Amino acid sequence: MTGTDAASAARDLFLRVTGAEPSGHWSAPGRVNLIGEHTDYNDGFVLPFAIPHRTHVQLGTRADGRIRVVSTFDEVPVEVPLADLAALFPDDRESVPEWSRYPLGVAWALLHAAGRDADVTGVDIAIASDVPVGAGLSSSAAIESATAIALNDTWDLGLDRVALARVGRTAENEAVGAPTGIMDQMASMLGEADATIFLDCRSLDANVVELGFASAGLELLVMDTRVAHAHSTGGYRERRASCELGAEIMGVAALRDLTVGDLAAAAEKMDDVTFRRVRHVVTENQRVLDTVQTLRNSGPRAIGELLVASHASMRDDFEISVPELDTAVDAALAAGAIGARMTGGGFGGAAIALVERAQAAEVTASVTRAFADAGYGAPHIFAVTPSPGATRA
Ligand code: GLA
Repeated sequence: MTGTDAASAARDLFLRVTGAEPSGHWSAPGRVNLIGEHTDYNDGFVLPFAIPHRTHVQLGTRADGRIRVVSTFDEVPVEVPLADLAALFPDDRESVPEWSRYPLGVAWALLHAAGRDADVTGVDIAIASDVPVGAGLSSSAAIESATAIALNDTWDLGLDRVALARVGRTAENEAVGAPTGIMDQMASMLGEADATIFLDCRSLDANVVELGFASAGLELLVMDTRVAHAHSTGGYRERRASCELGAEIMGVAALRDLTVGDLAAAAEKMDDVTFRRVRHVVTENQRVLDTVQTLRNSGPRAIGELLVASHASMRDDFEISVPELDTAVDAALAAGAIGARMTGGGFGGAAIALVERAQAAEVTASVTRAFADAGYGAPHIFAVTPSPGATRA
C-alpha cells in the first residue's frame, strides 16, 4: 500500500463503519534506527529517523462517550465506553482483540497523563497503515503516535510531543504488554526530513543531526528478511532482564552509567553471558556518540565501520541476530555497501545498508541472490528517506 492508498483506505473504512465523513486525518511514521540498539531501556543513546511509511488515522466525534476503533488489519470494530478504559487496562486487556489494545491503550494512557476522567467527547477512529508489520520498523509506534496526536488535538489536551511519546510507550508497555523502551515513539513523534534524532533516553533531550544522505549521493536500504518477530515475549524480555542484572551487580542505576573503561572490572564480577550483554550495551552507547561526531565532522560516508561493529556486537555479544539478518548484512557488505547492520529489536525483522546510490541495484540483487542460495524466502528490499514525524494531515 502506498501512503495515499493507506490514507484513503482509512477514510473508506471510516465511511463504511460510521456512514459519515471523518472530521480529521492524522498520520505518524515508522522508524529505522541508524545505530544504538537495546540502549534505550538502559537510559542510553539512540539515533533513529522516521521513514516515509505511515499509519493514518481518520477520526470523527460522537456524542455518547464511547470510543470505537476499526482497522484494515481486522475490519471488525471494537467499541467501549471511555469510562470503562480504566477497568480494561492493564489487567483485563485480554478481553479486547490484540490490535485494538494499541489505539485503546493510547486513549487510556492519554487520559491518565492529562489527568482527565472520561469527560471528553466520544470518538470513532479508522486506521490503515503502510508500515510493514513485524519488520522491526515500528508499526506499533506508528499506530500509537498517530492515535495519540489525533486524540490530543481532538480532546484539546495540550500535551507536547515528548509527553505523547511517553503515552505511546505506556500503552505499549501496559496495555499491550511489550516491555519496550521509548526510542520508537520518540522517533515517530519527532522525526525530521533528511535528519536523525540523537536522543538521550535518560533526559529525553533530543537533538536533530543532519544526515545528508541524498546530497552525498547515498541511499539507505531496508532489507526486510520477512522473518517476523514479537517483543512481548521471549528474547527481548530476557535481554532486558540481563541488562538490569548487570547494572545491579555493578551498583549503577542503569548500564548508561558504565563506560568502556569499566568493562574489565565488569568481566570479573559476572557470568560470561551477563557480561557480554553488558559489553554490547556499553560499547553500543559509545558507538552512538562516535557516530554523531563522525556525521558532524566527516559526513555519512564515514560511519560504515561503526554500523558494521554494531552488527557484530548484536550478533556475538547480545545474540539477537538470526541467520537471515547476518546473510543480508554480509551480502550487502560483500557487494560494496559502506556499512550494514540489523535494526530494531532483533530476532527477525530488517537490516539496513548504507550504499552509494549507483550501487543500490547491485546490492539489492546480491542480497536477493544470497537469500535464494541459502534457501530463504525472498527479502523485501527498498530505499527509505528520513522523513517528518507525526502530523495532522
Ligand atoms: C524495539 C523496542 C525499542 C528498542 C529496540 C531495540 O524496537 O521497541 O524500544 O528497545 O527494540 O533497540
